[in-house]
Amino acid sequence: MHIVHVAVEMAPIAKVGGLGDVVTSLSRAVQDLNHSVDVILPKYDCLNLSHVKDFHYQKSYSWGGTEIKVWFGKVEGLSVYFLEPLNGMFSTGCIYGCRNDGERFGFFCHAALEFLLQNGFHPDIIHCHDWSSAPVAWLFKDHYMHYGLSKARVVFTIHNLEFGAGNIGKAMTYSDKSTTVSPTYSKEVAGNPPIAPYLYKFHGILNGIDPDIWDPYNDKFIPVSYTSENVVEGKRAAKEALQQRLGLKKADLPLVGIITRLTHQKGIHLIKHAIWQTLDRNGQVVLLGSAPDPRIQNDFVNLANQLHSSHNDRARLCLNYDEPLSHLIYAGADFIVVPSIFEPCGLTQLTAMRYGSIPVVRKTGGLYDTVFDVDHDKERAQAQGLEPNGFNFDGADATGIDYALNRAISAWYEVREWFNPLCKTVMEQDWSWNKPALDYMELYHAARK
Ligand code: ADP
Ligand code: GLC
Repeated sequence: MHIVHVAVEMAPIAKVGGLGDVVTSLSRAVQDLNHSVDVILPKYDCLNLSHVKDFHYQKSYSWGGTEIKVWFGKVEGLSVYFLEPLNGMFSTGCIYGCRNDGERFGFFCHAALEFLLQNGFHPDIIHCHDWSSAPVAWLFKDHYMHYGLSKARVVFTIHNLEFGAGNIGKAMTYSDKSTTVSPTYSKEVAGNPPIAPYLYKFHGILNGIDPDIWDPYNDKFIPVSYTSENVVEGKRAAKEALQQRLGLKKADLPLVGIITRLTHQKGIHLIKHAIWQTLDRNGQVVLLGSAPDPRIQNDFVNLANQLHSSHNDRARLCLNYDEPLSHLIYAGADFIVVPSIFEPCGLTQLTAMRYGSIPVVRKTGGLYDTVFDVDHDKERAQAQGLEPNGFNFDGADATGIDYALNRAISAWYEVREWFNPLCKTVMEQDWSWNKPALDYMELYHAARK
C-alpha cells in the first residue's frame, strides 16, 4: 500500500509535541511492514535541517497565485517532500503562532494535494492529522477525488480535540475513517458534538514510541548504555550525569522528572504541587518544559527563582525546549510525573518506561490505558498481558497526586529490593508501534473497502 501523510509537524526536524513524534514513528513502523510511505511537510525556515539526509531542490509548480518550490530529503529513513511557497508563508521563524495559522495550513493542505495531482502520485491512503491538516479531507472529497487522485481514501487522526473543533467536525464528515490516539480518549470524547455523529467510523488506536529513536542501549545523550539487565547501573550513571549537568547535589535521592508543554491540559497546578511534595519528601525534581502562553512561562520563571533561593541543590526548572536534555532526564529520573487534566495518549509515560523510569500519572485518556497501578490495577494489567507498571490517581486536587506520589517515593526509600525489579519490568514492556501499526494497517484496508 502507498500511504502519504500530510502533516505540519515531524520529529526531529519540526517538532512541537507528540504529533511530530507520531508522524515519524508511525510512518517508520508502517514502512517497516513493507509499505511505501511519504510525508509532505511545509518547508519552514526553522526546520532542523541537520537531521535531513540528501536534502535537495527538486522542482517548482504554480498554484494559489504563487510559485511553490519542492524540496526532497530523507528523515529517519522516510521520504519527505517539503513545500516552499514563495509568498513567504512558512518563513516566519515558527511552526505555530502566526495570526493567520488557519490560512497558512489551509494553503499548505491545498498545495499538498495539488502537488500529488500534478506529479502523478496515486496514493492508496492520504493520512491527515489534527485541525492543521484536516482541510485535506474536504478538499479531497470536494475536488481532488474527482480529478486524478480517485484511488485514494482519507484517514484523519485527532491528536487533540482541544484545538480547531470547527475543522475537526468538518474533517470527520469528509474522512473515510477517523481515529484518535487511545481507546480511553476515544470513549471520553465520543459524546462531543464534532465526534458523536461519526462513531461508526471512529476508532481509538493507541500511539507507540519508536524504540530505535528512544533506546537507552544506543543513546548518544546518556553516559552509559543500558538494557533491562543493567538498568540499575545505567540509571545510576545517568542520574549522576544529570545532577552534574544541572548543578544539583550529587546524592542518592529519589529523582522526579517532568517533561512537558506547560499548558492547562498538562495540569499546571498539579505539576507545581508535585514539585513541592517531592521536595518535602527530600527528593530531587527536574522539570523540562516550556509554555506557549507568556503568563504561564513567567509564572514558572518566578517559581524557578524561588526554588533557586530555597532548594538550589534539589530542584531545577529548565524552561525551554531541549531534546538532548530530555533523553538524560528520561534515563536519570526514577519517576516521570504526568498529572494531565486530559491526555489523548501521552508519550512521555511510554518513553519513561523505555528508560526504566516509573510513571506516576493521572487516570485519564492514554495515561489510563498504559499505566497500571502496582497497588490497584493488577487484574486490569493482566487482562492486557502485562504486570502493573506505575502509580496512578484520580481527581484534580492535591489529595490524588499526593496519594500516588507518596506511595512512589516511599517505595523508592523503603523497598528497593522491590523497586529495582519494577524498573526492569517496565523496561521490558513493549510500547512500540508493533501492535498499533498493525491496527492502522487494518484500518487503512477497511477504509479502502
Ligand atoms: P503533547 O503532544 O500533548 O505535548 P506528548 O506526551 O504526546 O504530549 O508528547 C510530548 C513530546 O514532546 C514528547 O516526545 C516529549 O519528550 C517532548 N517534549 C515536551 N516538552 C519538551 C521539552 N521542553 N524539551 C524537549 N522535549 C519535550
Ligand atoms: C497530542 C496529545 C498527546 C498525544 C500526541 C500524539 O499532542 O496532547 O496526548 O500523545 O498528540 O498523538
